Amino acid sequence: MTLPSWSGLRLLPCVVLVAQHFMAANRTSPSASLTHPDAELPHMGSVGGTGFGVGDVAVVGAGPCGLAAAKYLLAQGVFDSVVVFEQQSEVGGVWNYSADPSRTLRVPQQSPFCPPDPPIRPPGTPSPLFPSPVYEMLHANIPAPLMQFLDLDFPKGGLIFPTREQIQQYLVEYSQDVRHVVKFCTQIKDIRLRQEGGKDRWDLDAESTVTGEVFSRTFDAVVVASGHYSTTYIPDVASIEDFHRTNPGIITHSKSYRKAEAFSGKKVVVVGNAASGLDIATQVGRLSQQPLLLSVRSPTPPDKLERTGCQEVPVIVEFLPAERGVKFRGGRVETDIDSIIFCTGYLFSYPFLRGLGSSGITDGRRVYGLHRDLIHIDHSTIAFAGLPMKVVPFPLSESQGAILARVWSDALALPSKEAMRRWEDEMTSGRGPAFHAYPKGGDIAYINETYDWISRASPSGKPPPRWNEERVWMRQIGAEAKLEFERSGCAATSLDELGFHYSHANDQSRPPQEGRSPPSNPRERSPSTTLAQGTRIDLSHGPTWLGCPEPPGPASPPASPHARFAPPTIQTERDGPSQSQDYYSVLPRPS
Ligand SMILES: Cc1cc2nc3c(=O)[nH]c(=O)nc-3n(C[C@H](O)[C@H](O)[C@H](O)COP(=O)(O)OP(=O)(O)OC[C@H]3O[C@@H](n4cnc5c(N)ncnc54)[C@H](O)[C@@H]3O)c2cc1C
Ligand SMILES: NC(=O)c1ccc[n+]([C@@H]2O[C@H](COP(=O)([O-])OP(=O)(O)OC[C@H]3O[C@@H](n4cnc5c(N)ncnc54)[C@H](OP(=O)(O)O)[C@@H]3O)[C@@H](O)[C@H]2O)c1
Repeated sequence: MTLPSWSGLRLLPCVVLVAQHFMAANRTSPSASLTHPDAELPHMGSVGGTGFGVGDVAVVGAGPCGLAAAKYLLAQGVFDSVVVFEQQSEVGGVWNYSADPSRTLRVPQQSPFCPPDPPIRPPGTPSPLFPSPVYEMLHANIPAPLMQFLDLDFPKGGLIFPTREQIQQYLVEYSQDVRHVVKFCTQIKDIRLRQEGGKDRWDLDAESTVTGEVFSRTFDAVVVASGHYSTTYIPDVASIEDFHRTNPGIITHSKSYRKAEAFSGKKVVVVGNAASGLDIATQVGRLSQQPLLLSVRSPTPPDKLERTGCQEVPVIVEFLPAERGVKFRGGRVETDIDSIIFCTGYLFSYPFLRGLGSSGITDGRRVYGLHRDLIHIDHSTIAFAGLPMKVVPFPLSESQGAILARVWSDALALPSKEAMRRWEDEMTSGRGPAFHAYPKGGDIAYINETYDWISRASPSGKPPPRWNEERVWMRQIGAEAKLEFERSGCAATSLDELGFHYSHANDQSRPPQEGRSPPSNPRERSPSTTLAQGTRIDLSHGPTWLGCPEPPGPASPPASPHARFAPPTIQTERDGPSQSQDYYSVLPRPS
């Protein structure tokens, strides 16, 4: 039988979808214990199952997001099987560090459809390694109490911004109760979709990375948690290819950066000023020829630039192969360059979805056809975990795992396909080209809205996180605290040590109280924060809901074990405090 292509399936006659919907609606679910079926939250879903009838679930990847998905799916207790496929021999994803970097380099590299980097096989290792983009000296850029999963704290007394080794140890510990469902050293090669009895069925081909043995298995639902820091992006600047051919070894990508020593005394240009660019420029700039040149598209905030000790220059507009040089916008030319490190990020890429017509799924910058950056709208038994960027990924992946566990067990209904498409259309016109890069406050909204939505479904299952005021505050001061952590020698074990004090009493969103003195230290920040022009998180009220109406009727939400403070509400100055609405509809484009 010839299987329809992904894009072809999107065009299946509506009648099939409608028939599917009605067939599904007649099935009952063991976990459907529901309230207020007509209470649809804007852009969320009503409470009540749609009859997916999911038995077997596959998860691709045992990085943080795959592990979290597996935990929530298993905790739901209704699926016949949950199997996690991981190509490496250990969990952890990017945190599963390899001293050996990737040996693959394509210059330029703008295609999300290039073949994945082949693994490396260091002598004496039984299984091949898929090199991670994490480098030797790397600390978390999110404070540990905020970064961690709900059910496991980073060890007490540890660094407030843990090292990569500590994060990997933490993930290995976090994986203990799901390791029995992880198939290690197993790479998913292909995923195909077919219809059986009006239901989606997913045929997965897998290969052992050790023996090369190939096998197939069919699942009812798939979580794609394969990460998106693997396929590099290097822009196609004039003469870059010629430069690379003439001067091999000068151009590299941050994915293969490991340590600064190799750049000692060299003339170095770092391209890109996001997290990798700034961190690598700081490390390399200490040993390289002075000053290291940091080539940027948009200016680096002064405090961050100062920390790097680098000289900021504009984007490279042309490579000069004969002079081993580059020309920057504005005309400045630098020659005899020893190293150019592209810290220009990565592309979304799903080589194992090629059979589904992966060009309809991603163009490298975005995954198309998803509701809430997660669930495929037309085939809602496939989901893409961990896509949002500029967020706190671990807890957000718990929210996503909790959604999938409820939706696929029919404890929670998705909105209609039309409503989900409308949501995506609205996002398409509202968000910029970096579609999955969330603006400030986006993760707060996602996490807390999810909690609120899920609180209204079946009481069964593992609760997702909900951020209280203190966590919202940590999210606000995190980047500044990381700078202070670095300035003070990377040894602090608490935010207090760095001069950041959480104090509920300093919440300036509360009415002034007699005798209350203003905070003496500017870092004693109020948990109330400006998100963007006209939009703010207001923590001054009681338990109202993030852009969602108060749940009607008797179903009041259970208290989160972490909710020691009133949950935040999102308001817009435009709409005032009384009007409920979907938060995402008021978010500005990410900057
Ligand atoms: C340099 C760097 C620093 C970062 N720093 C932070 C930080 O400080 N704090 C933070 O919270 N986040 C940080 N992040 C973000 C990081 O990506 C997340 O913490 C987290 O790793 C995302 O988890 P994931 O499971 O989505 O993806 P990944 O961690 O990428 O895991 C994906 C897993 O899928 C597996 N896989 C892929 N394809 C297949 C296949 N075909 N078959 C089987 N298995 C497959 C991979 O082997 C991998 O184990 C950083 C990222 C990078 C690149
Ligand atoms: N824990 C840590 O300290 C740490 C360290 C490194 C990375 N990380 C994480 O790793 C992930 C990936 O980060 P990343 O920095 O590698 O990628 P990224 O966030 O995608 O950033 C890519 C950067 O490249 C810039 N860029 C693209 N094309 C350019 C061009 N032609 N000229 C100049 N600049 C160009 C982009 O500029 P624009 O901003 O203009 O688009 C952006 O600043 C993120 O999750 C990040 O948080 C964490």
